Amino acid sequence: MPQDKKLYIKTYGCQMNVYDSERMAEAMGGQGYVTTDSPDDADMILLNTCHIREKAAEKVYSELGRYKHLKAEKPDLKIGVAGCVAQAEGQEIMRRQPMVDLVVGPQSYHRLPQLEARARAGEKALDTDFPEDDKFETLKTRPKAKRGPTAFLTVQEGCDKFCAFCVVPYTRGAEVSRPADRIMTEARDLVERGVRELTLLGQNVNAYHGHEGGLAGLIRELATIEDLKRIRFTTSHPNDMDDDLIAAHGDCDKLMPYLHLPVQAGSDRILKRMNRQHTAEQYIRLIERLRAARPDLHLSGDFIVGFPEETEEDFQATLDLIEEVRYGSAFSFKYSTRPGTPAAERDQLPEDVKDDRLKRLQALLTRQQRALQDEMVGRTVKVLFEKAGRFAGQMVGKSEYLHAVHVESDTIVPGSLHSVSIEHSGANSLSGRLVA
Ligand code: SAH
Ligand code: SF4
Ligand code: F3S
Repeated sequence: MPQDKKLYIKTYGCQMNVYDSERMAEAMGGQGYVTTDSPDDADMILLNTCHIREKAAEKVYSELGRYKHLKAEKPDLKIGVAGCVAQAEGQEIMRRQPMVDLVVGPQSYHRLPQLEARARAGEKALDTDFPEDDKFETLKTRPKAKRGPTAFLTVQEGCDKFCAFCVVPYTRGAEVSRPADRIMTEARDLVERGVRELTLLGQNVNAYHGHEGGLAGLIRELATIEDLKRIRFTTSHPNDMDDDLIAAHGDCDKLMPYLHLPVQAGSDRILKRMNRQHTAEQYIRLIERLRAARPDLHLSGDFIVGFPEETEEDFQATLDLIEEVRYGSAFSFKYSTRPGTPAAERDQLPEDVKDDRLKRLQALLTRQQRALQDEMVGRTVKVLFEKAGRFAGQMVGKSEYLHAVHVESDTIVPGSLHSVSIEHSGANSLSGRLVA
């Protein structure tokens, strides 16, 4: 087997793509590939792509354009496209960009080594199947190398919700949960390699049903792993938040008080047009129940402005909902038409209206986020330290609420947890001193 060929992977999109890129790199490790940080010295370039908004998908084509000269200089260089754009428009990529040698979808990347071999033999290799065999079974063993203190772990994949704007049910396929015993094995393995915080991933992670107790059951079992100190999960759908998962926020110490719970909009009319299957009121009631279980819970959300038919009044209802919830952080987007989704067929709002609403929404969210962050000053938080800061003698980690926290210290080691008294709130992070 040829040794030490170089693989450059560029990752776009959500955290699940980050996890998938790791697994793809590991799969190619078995073929003698090591990863490199630069496309210039790579023998294979793999773009792990995102299809969620038009801009995200376009990035793939402009990035490919940049590799044209590399391919000309180095005919042996293989270029692959993976992820959600590969799934959605694999054939078109092959047609539009003849320099692409292989295309692999999110559910078939365990076959990457075979695809690479076919590409090396001069074939154009495309695999966007939703195969019966489970990719994680094929990819079973993970390397034993030491790792940083935090890691993602995919527990659920796919989505059956079909929100009217969203491509994910098409690119990732139907909801599938990984069996709990496999997740436990992978989690123990990660913890042995130094991981102290796990973020469980799923497109609808709280619809997880691979454990008899659902996601809450899995979290409680993971909490028995002694050296695992923190558990998080993302992304949840409001309709899958069951009683036990709400209760876990109150009684499971290792489950962090931070929840990403997208609502998208605050107007019932728009929520209905989006096919979200819940009202604004139901969402607010759910948050009340979560906060009753865990009063200091920080909420995070996703918002779409300028969805077809959204009036100024509908938009105002979104602002009102945000005022009521008080988000610790949030992601907001202009609605982007996605071919093949129901909302793409409807009358679209003018771009300037979308721009204006996004600006106003983001101003409110930033104000809220900053106010909540400033409220941390004077409080003591627990920080899981991850790495050295930008300045000498500085260490950076995350609080329970996912705030970045800086501390001056030359004794703290990555992976350790310390109490920190917060003294200052900056633009994007907090700083403070160790509590003895
Ligand atoms: N449940 C998913 C959501 C994925 S998409 C998850 O696992 O994260 C992430 C966010 O992108 C959505 O919550 C939504 O706010 C936004 N989004 C999805 N489709 C969009 C579109 N067509 N235009 C604009 N934003 C979109
Ligand atoms: Fe997309 Fe809706 Fe499924 Fe989230 S719940 S992945 S927004 S269809
Ligand atoms: Fe993007 Fe696919 Fe994730 S479309 S957000 S990479 S599931």
